[in-house]
Amino acid sequence: MITIENLTKFYGNNRAVNDISFTINDNEILGFLGPNGAGKSTTMNMIAGYLPMSGGKVTICGDDITENPVKAKRNIGYLPEIPPVYPDMKVREYLDF
Ligand SMILES: Nc1ncnc2c1ncn2[C@@H]1O[C@H](COP(=O)(O)OP(=O)(O)OP(=O)(O)O)[C@@H](O)[C@H]1O
Ligand SMILES: [Mg+2]
Repeated sequence: MITIENLTKFYGNNRAVNDISFTINDNEILGFLGPNGAGKSTTMNMIAGYLPMSGGKVTICGDDITENPVKAKRNIGYLPEIPPVYPDMKVREYLDF
């Protein structure tokens, strides 16, 4: 279960994510849609603990992504738009790494 409460992100004066809240229950599949620049990637990066939030709270299976990131991240697999892989590594090498 993932809970998002009042999630907000400012890049300088630009409010990229404006106070959003929603819950994803166990076994639920969610499509997260919006026009270009709506704040989808910013939201995903905050949920995954990759980007600090300006306000709000995210919990993954009850663990706060800010207060308890190591435990929270045990329950996340996140593939961003541009995967942070080393292109010269083979799949097996990458898994070992
Ligand atoms: N690193 C950054 N620094 C400053 N502003 C940013 C940064 N990343 C995104 N933004 C701004 O934040 C807002 C939301 O961008 P974001 O990339 O989260 O939207 P998106 O919904 O993922 O868009 P797209 O559909 O194009 O992928 C936009 O106004 C964007 O210009
Ligand atoms: Mg995006």
